Amino acid sequence: MGLFPGLSYVMINQLINHGVAEEVIEKMKADLQEFFKLPLEEKNAYARLPNGMEGYGQPYIFGQGRKLDCGDMFMLGSQPASQRNMKFWPENPSSFRATLDKYSLELQKVSTCLVKLMAKNLGNNPKHLTDMFENGRQAVRMNYYPACVNESNVTGITPHTDAPGLTLLLQVNEVQGLQIKRNGKWIPITPIPGAFIVNIGDIIEVMSNGEYKSIEHKTVLNPEHERFSIAAFHFPNVKAMIGPLQDLVKENGAVYKTLNNDEFLGLFQKAKLDGKSILYHMKLES
Ligand code: OGA
Ligand code: NI
Repeated sequence: MGLFPGLSYVMINQLINHGVAEEVIEKMKADLQEFFKLPLEEKNAYARLPNGMEGYGQPYIFGQGRKLDCGDMFMLGSQPASQRNMKFWPENPSSFRATLDKYSLELQKVSTCLVKLMAKNLGNNPKHLTDMFENGRQAVRMNYYPACVNESNVTGITPHTDAPGLTLLLQVNEVQGLQIKRNGKWIPITPIPGAFIVNIGDIIEVMSNGEYKSIEHKTVLNPEHERFSIAAFHFPNVKAMIGPLQDLVKENGAVYKTLNNDEFLGLFQKAKLDGKSILYHMKLES
């Protein structure tokens, strides 16, 4: 992606000058750290239900022989606001709800802007892509990783790609832990204060018919420092069909299947259980 007015990239994939006010980011950082520091009983009032996605809990463990993901996660559906499940939204710290409301709205704007630019880059009628992200869904996952030596059997988050269109990730306390895979090598991402890491997810790879690739990433634990991060996942709206954009398949055909929202969610669960990626399941035979 080239440079464009108002927004700029530094290093590999970190976005600065994104227009989100520093106070909004700082307040989010403060409130989420305060939440994670609450006693376990209090956090468990927002515990994730069996088979649920939202709430406070530890990572699901799937597949044998995998390393154990180590840390706490707190996932909330944040946009559209009308779809929020407020029983999972903490009232302590008392500003948490208002803080997340503001933060999520601001990030939705950044994501919309990036989607527009990506659509232009694809040489596609931008409307086809932006329409799908209009009133798109957003979920945020707050992550806490304890200070811990990376033993052979524990890690932060095992290698994965994110499912959505775009993830905007904030490294909250500037402790290094995130790594992305580039040309077969794991590259640590040094936190830049106030910058968002932009990760392309599987849905954008599918919609762009493979022009944009979703990025494999993982987190490792820091032996001395605990670490916090917040990932905002941006999905298309529920009406959007998840498949390659029509303009992009005219010449060379579709690389991926097209699914509706329910079919996609089914696949998302299946992929989680069998440890294969969504892309693996959506790829058409060539
Ligand atoms: C995620 C993720 C990275 C991080 O939540 O999907 O990749 O730095 N997080 O916490
Ligand atoms: Ni991720």
